[in-house]
Amino acid sequence: MKYKIAFLGAGRMAEGILTAVEDVSLVIMAEKVAARAEELRQRYGVVVTDDLKAAAKSARIVFLAVRPQDVDDVAEVVRPVLKPTQVLVSIVAGKTISKLRRAFGPDVRIVRVMPNLALRAKAGMCAICAAPNAKRGDVAAVERILGKAGRTVVLDERHFDAVTALSGSGPAYFAYMAKAMADAGMKLGLDGDVALELSEQTMYGTAKFLLDGGVPLDQFIAGVCTKGGTTAAGMDVLAQSDFTTAVADTLAAAAKRSKELA
Ligand SMILES: NC(=O)c1ccc[n+]([C@@H]2O[C@H](COP(=O)([O-])OP(=O)(O)OC[C@H]3O[C@@H](n4cnc5c(N)ncnc54)[C@H](OP(=O)(O)O)[C@@H]3O)[C@@H](O)[C@H]2O)c1
Repeated sequence: MKYKIAFLGAGRMAEGILTAVEDVSLVIMAEKVAARAEELRQRYGVVVTDDLKAAAKSARIVFLAVRPQDVDDVAEVVRPVLKPTQVLVSIVAGKTISKLRRAFGPDVRIVRVMPNLALRAKAGMCAICAAPNAKRGDVAAVERILGKAGRTVVLDERHFDAVTALSGSGPAYFAYMAKAMADAGMKLGLDGDVALELSEQTMYGTAKFLLDGGVPLDQFIAGVCTKGGTTAAGMDVLAQSDFTTAVADTLAAAAKRSKELA
């Protein structure tokens, strides 16, 4: 079934989700920055307004895609026009369903999503949960839209701070690792652009191989680390470093921040 879709806020994530929508004629976006609105009109031929109320009123599925600090202002404007027949899909980090219901009203059917920026490459990871008053079809409708931009998983909301830290923020951490690998390659004498290509393609290829092949990570690592070989020599150093602790601390800090944003 085709529903009208609205976006409240038309930033990076909203644009990513928009690219997954097959029929942009069903979409209306609300964006307060005129230059950004024009950019999206030109790029996608999509309707963009600066009128939050008009956008919120006109769609069956309404994506809330502003930053956490802007949620209350948006709620104040759109709360009077939202109806129980609509579904509000929040992608806002940290904001719990109970906070959203308080802001937008108890009757609004809320679906909460934690996406990541990789959906702009149609390789996103989205976790989805729903308010108790949401209909079973609401989650399915959201899964259908987001599934065009990568993978989706339906999870209990209590996991959302962890999801936010791992897959929501994860692209930045993997990119950081890719940059560290490229920088290390340059120290070994490679040109910057070559080092970056080797690093990024290796990250992409490893992820693709693991996802396609279903090989357990430990088995995969052991397969690359031939005894006495070059990878094993590097792995000895990595395994003895505080890398694992640093990764755990990084995710813990992101999860803590997600809780604070609620
Ligand atoms: N970026 C990520 O990787 C990521 C991952 C997972 C979840 N998220 C969540 O996704 C949400 C959006 O993130 P983003 O990275 O797309 O942020 P963003 O690029 O800053 O987009 C938000 C957009 O909403 C606009 N906006 C704010 N208030 C508005 C209003 N009253 N009316 C109309 N437009 C309004 C902003 O305009 P101004 O810039 O002028 O304020 C901005 O263009 C956030 O809540 C974030 O927590 C992001």
